[in-house]
Amino acid sequence: MRKLPTNREGINKPLWLLAEITYRCPLNCVFCYNPVDYAKQHQELTTDEWLSVLNQGREMGAAQLGLSGGEPLLRKDLELIVKEGRKLGYYINLITSGIGMTEARIKNLKEAGVDHIQLSFQDSTREMNDFLSSTKTFDLKNKVAKLIKQYDYPMVLNCVLHRLNIDHIEEILSMAESMGAEYVELANTQFYSWASLNKKQLMPTRQQLDKAEAVLKKFRDRLGNKMKIYFVMPDYYSTRPKKCMNGWGNVFITVQADGTVLPCHVAGMLPNIEFANIKDTSLDWIWYDSPGFNLFRGDSWMKEPCKSCPEKENDLGGCRCQAYMLAGDAALTDPICEKSPHHEKMVKQFVKDAEKISAGEKPIIFRTDKESRRLIKEKDTCSLNIEESRLFEDGVVASSDKSRVGSI
Ligand code: FES
Repeated sequence: MRKLPTNREGINKPLWLLAEITYRCPLNCVFCYNPVDYAKQHQELTTDEWLSVLNQGREMGAAQLGLSGGEPLLRKDLELIVKEGRKLGYYINLITSGIGMTEARIKNLKEAGVDHIQLSFQDSTREMNDFLSSTKTFDLKNKVAKLIKQYDYPMVLNCVLHRLNIDHIEEILSMAESMGAEYVELANTQFYSWASLNKKQLMPTRQQLDKAEAVLKKFRDRLGNKMKIYFVMPDYYSTRPKKCMNGWGNVFITVQADGTVLPCHVAGMLPNIEFANIKDTSLDWIWYDSPGFNLFRGDSWMKEPCKSCPEKENDLGGCRCQAYMLAGDAALTDPICEKSPHHEKMVKQFVKDAEKISAGEKPIIFRTDKESRRLIKEKDTCSLNIEESRLFEDGVVASSDKSRVGSI
């Protein structure tokens, strides 16, 4: 039995509350980070339950509220949720595809108190934008971009990069500039959930990344602070892992559509950890006292090579979910780290193999209810490979490894 903190000493307050208020979504993005088995979740929290989450979070010290999904605009009570968030004093960020945004809606949301709207595009071209989301939404997104400016919001444009669109980085940045974007987030795909299923098709090549960085530099030199560009490199090209979520249970708290509370968007897939639901207990207990949130706090859970690594404070061993997905044990070093014995095969070799995949060789999987149900069925009949199976809520436990995480 591992010793858990018995009091609140040394545990930070949560600063960021992410409310994934619905998993319904009009888009079908191939890199969506929603759980691959989201179709299992039928019951969304009610308006009152969300208002209670917001109140509890604020009482605990959370200052930033992210409203995301799925598509948060699909909730008819979004304005009510925003209003409560504003009353409580949160800084409110709406993370949206723009689908469902009308002039009346943006006006209401502004009045209700949204501070910041982050609009996603899939690409600068209609063809690729519409292909990646499997919808015809490019023109609509352009209209929403105009509304965002018209209603005096800073324009925050987000575009997930990967092999299929990274060569358009110049056009994506030009599009953002012509829309008057103040911030552009170009995050290379993080390979979780649906993106993990499509990892081979989405992994950019080294050559693509080098070209993208050169374009990025050109834009940054020319535009400076006029348009701030955030560029996130894909983990797979690093030799040290990221300090994921700024530490497990350290800053972020995610509440899923059905009320399950997680330390990151995807931790629900980790086996043998029971994450509590807000309908059954308080946010305060979940954050401070629940076994799931305490499991990877600090560094006492670490194994070698993290345990004796002089850099462990910098990255806290990397991402727990990535360690599980790639090495089968969430308590191992994230294989992105070159000190991990899994780095060579799961990261370096993977990148080399992915370079050889030609477009269309492996069908890409779109995030749809139908696919989610199909995958659930295939998981249940053990038709998926081990890496795919690990993406499911309480994924498989490698047979050699039954005594590990969660046995606290
Ligand atoms: Fe879950 Fe990194 S995504 S800890």
